[in-house]
Amino acid sequence: MYRTKNCGELRLANLNEEVTLAGWVQKARKFGGMIFIDLRDRYGITQLVFNNEQNAALCDEAAKVGREWVIQVVGKVTERSNKNPNIPTGDIEITASTLTVLNPSEIPPFTIEDDTDGGDELRMKYRYLDLRRTAVRANLELRHRMAFATRSYLNDQKFLEVETPVLIGSTPEGARDFVVPSRMNPGEFYALPQSPQTLKQLLMVSGFDRYFQIVKCFRDEDLRADRQPEFTQIDCEMSFIEQEDILKMFEGLTKYLFKTIKGIDLADFPRLSYAEAMRLYGSDKPDTRFGMPFVEIKDLTAGRNFGVFDTSEFIAAICAEGCAGYTRKQLDELTEFVKRPQIGAAGLIYVRYEADGSLKSSVDKFYTPEDLKKWAERAGAKPGDLLLILCGATEKTQKQLGELRLEMGSRMGLRDKNKFSCLWVVDFPLLEYDAELKRYFAMHHPFTSPKPEDIPLLDTNPGKVRANAYDIVINGVEIGGGSIRIHDSELQKKMFSILGFSDEQAQAQFGFLMNAFKYGAPPHGGIAFGLDRFVSIFAGLDSIRDCIAFPKNNSGRDVMLDAPSALAQEQLDELSLRVQLAPQKKI
Ligand code: AMO
Repeated sequence: MYRTKNCGELRLANLNEEVTLAGWVQKARKFGGMIFIDLRDRYGITQLVFNNEQNAALCDEAAKVGREWVIQVVGKVTERSNKNPNIPTGDIEITASTLTVLNPSEIPPFTIEDDTDGGDELRMKYRYLDLRRTAVRANLELRHRMAFATRSYLNDQKFLEVETPVLIGSTPEGARDFVVPSRMNPGEFYALPQSPQTLKQLLMVSGFDRYFQIVKCFRDEDLRADRQPEFTQIDCEMSFIEQEDILKMFEGLTKYLFKTIKGIDLADFPRLSYAEAMRLYGSDKPDTRFGMPFVEIKDLTAGRNFGVFDTSEFIAAICAEGCAGYTRKQLDELTEFVKRPQIGAAGLIYVRYEADGSLKSSVDKFYTPEDLKKWAERAGAKPGDLLLILCGATEKTQKQLGELRLEMGSRMGLRDKNKFSCLWVVDFPLLEYDAELKRYFAMHHPFTSPKPEDIPLLDTNPGKVRANAYDIVINGVEIGGGSIRIHDSELQKKMFSILGFSDEQAQAQFGFLMNAFKYGAPPHGGIAFGLDRFVSIFAGLDSIRDCIAFPKNNSGRDVMLDAPSALAQEQLDELSLRVQLAPQKKI
């Protein structure tokens, strides 16, 4: 037997027991005639002690082991004179009687400690060592618990987990596909699923009624802190349901996870229409841990010859409570923030509602204190508050003010990682118009159904049609999204035609689905949660990378496996591929 106990379980209650432990050497230190070793495994750290006076030969052996060696020790559980209250095993130590080196280790490239000296790239290259660190492993343990609890909840609700294939054709989720060449079919390619969307709908046609899968999805898109090229969805679909049934079921799942994993009871989730979310927060995934909604003031600004406002379609303020004392420098920083190219505002206007009740602004030349007072009143501002105002074209300005609101939320410490605010955003537009390409795109995906009352608008004003689509948002992160699907092949055909597919193109790409719909498709709908994002929110992480065992870096590379990489000529020949690289731009 390699071990009788693990490194996290021994307590004073085990005093005098003879135990065998195995694990990695976290640290070894000499102290007088003693050697102390911190032995680590997945479950914790236990201190081993080797006493020169009792066993000099053994002590000599112990002196040779280095960091990250794998050792096995037999010894007696004894009470520590110098207790360590920071670890659960801190009251005891093992007085060793034998030591076996199971495997020595080279000196690791960084320290395996919570506060490691390893930089990002180095830790990614040696990810298997990084994963030995408690903090990183804890994220994966949390991920396991969340996936396990999800399976348990969905199983109780009669969902069946069905595996769908990974080598499939293109699925339209709006990103580029990763493709795989087929050796047996020269010149032809599989695409990896951006999601199992069409397959889960086929399972509904097959009568599975309630499907789920914790499944890898692949999207070739620009990476960000909350995006990986391969990520995991909790993918679900249900038959004979309406939007309300889905919202209930998956609000239930979310509450269940918060309760079982974090011990938090959540109140019912508020629902906000897409239009309201944009109007109040300038975002379809508002962070509702704090208020600071937009207040429109266009009607209060006219007639004072301030050209910038007079020519703006939209003027709105946010009220930053208690920030009237912001210095010139702080206001300049905020102005720089909104002028950054990623945000693109022309400038920032402010009104200070001073503690003494006076009002001072960056537009005092045009507006009287009485004018400013009206703005402040509408924004619900009190003495001591600061109004921040942006203006311009409606949609653009809403997004810019949304970014400024988040920035202020962060600066004011209102985005506490231990506070959770969930909501549903509903009634998304069905279509998005791309002015450059002069065509409509599906905002969610082409299988999303329009609201029945908006169907007539498909012919007259497609941009105004609302969808039976919903997102679940937690702390400003889109955790999941879904829709009620079209189950009528005629309506589906119409949707494809609005999206610019010819009949032939639609048939070639989605014929299998439209044909299936001819054989009795039930009304159905579903949702997919991003598991990586869900775990990150639970763990309070800034990037989903930290809850993925082997993530890719920002250029989509696995630096540990050195992938992607070139193929040998024979392999290319076998796949009937000829690689001709366009001249590369220097990055
Ligand atoms: P959607 O495209 O909204 O919907 O994706 C669902 C959820 O998956 C997560 N997600 C990602 N997570 C990490 N990295 C990525 N690159 C990434 N892309 C998406 C998000 C998102 O909310 N088939 C539909 C679902 C449905 O209609 O049932 C779909 O995939 O958390």
